[in-house]
Amino acid sequence: MATQKNVVPFTCALRDLGKSRTAKAADPLAIDGFDHVHLYADSARQSAFYLAHAFGFIPIAYRGPETGWKESVSIALKQGGVLLCVTSALKSSSPIAAHVLKHSFSAKDVAFRVPDCDAAFQEAVARGAKPVLPPTEWADSSGAVIQASIQTYGDTIHSFVERTAFSGPFWPGFAPYSKIFPKDATIEECGLEVIDHVVGNVELGKMNEWVGFYERVLGFSQLTHFSDKDISTEYSALMSKVMNGGGGKIKLPINEPAEGKRKSQIEEYLEFNEGPGVQHIAFRTQDILAVVSRLRARGVRFLFVPKTYYDEIPSRVGTINEDLSKVRELGILVDRDEDGYLLQIFTKNLQDRPTLFFEIIQREGSQGFGAGNFKALFEAIERDQAERGNL
Ligand code: FE2
Repeated sequence: MATQKNVVPFTCALRDLGKSRTAKAADPLAIDGFDHVHLYADSARQSAFYLAHAFGFIPIAYRGPETGWKESVSIALKQGGVLLCVTSALKSSSPIAAHVLKHSFSAKDVAFRVPDCDAAFQEAVARGAKPVLPPTEWADSSGAVIQASIQTYGDTIHSFVERTAFSGPFWPGFAPYSKIFPKDATIEECGLEVIDHVVGNVELGKMNEWVGFYERVLGFSQLTHFSDKDISTEYSALMSKVMNGGGGKIKLPINEPAEGKRKSQIEEYLEFNEGPGVQHIAFRTQDILAVVSRLRARGVRFLFVPKTYYDEIPSRVGTINEDLSKVRELGILVDRDEDGYLLQIFTKNLQDRPTLFFEIIQREGSQGFGAGNFKALFEAIERDQAERGNL
């Protein structure tokens, strides 16, 4: 029998939390920022190919049967400071398969980087978090990563990830991607730099419960509040609160549907995602014009913005540094608040269901989320909804 040449030996062991140990941070729930977002897919290979060739995420690490892992296939991708991992099941009995059957392509884990995983997990659980995975140490010849997870809305989780002593690609047990697929085409990044925010959709009446969860359990604070008056159209409405944590590095807006004359896009999401979950992941760039030009050239589809939207930009937003004709040509939205302005654009759904999508955002002072664009966005989304017969 031929031997497998790319097996990556690794260990995975629960941490002994009884051990007396020195705290690594004054605040047990100190969060350094987003570590990665873990997506579950029907096929990790196909999804990674899409994320690479359409969005410029570079596959950096692989774990699957070729590396000696028989449970699932995972591909980690990186662009700028953004880490994504996409995983698919190899058997229908896998919980990953069940998740994908229910939600289709979706974000399972919005993972936070922490200096002390054991402390973060213990503190979060003491404050009422539902544990999913107790602190677990993954190790291979490149070092160790400690991970623990807690439950959030729907079937979504937050992992605490401590990477104090790991030099390998992404995670212990993964092989460098190029070792497994040495002949893959070279991928060029598109200019996405960091995860700016991750938005969750929850059921009607549940937003304040989750706001309370992030405040009580993770010590987050509420950043801004858009009332449904700010962001409603004649036919749909939502309520949104933005939770802010990790010293400003983590922003998690939470949406719930509000009463409207017809089905809101949040209700449509909840129906097709079969429950709450991550609605969109926003990536920040310093040059949205270049990013969107590249993405459009690669065939990425964005929400349609009516040309008339741009007629009111000079009066609503004032002067911006970017060429407005180029902004209009690329379908980028602009908004201003008291701190400055921002440019943003939303992709169409990444999968067949009207659920997960991406946002690209460039901040020029504004720390908002484009409240002034909600109306324009909603009108654009509703045109899509009407096309699907769901409005
Ligand atoms: Fe957003």
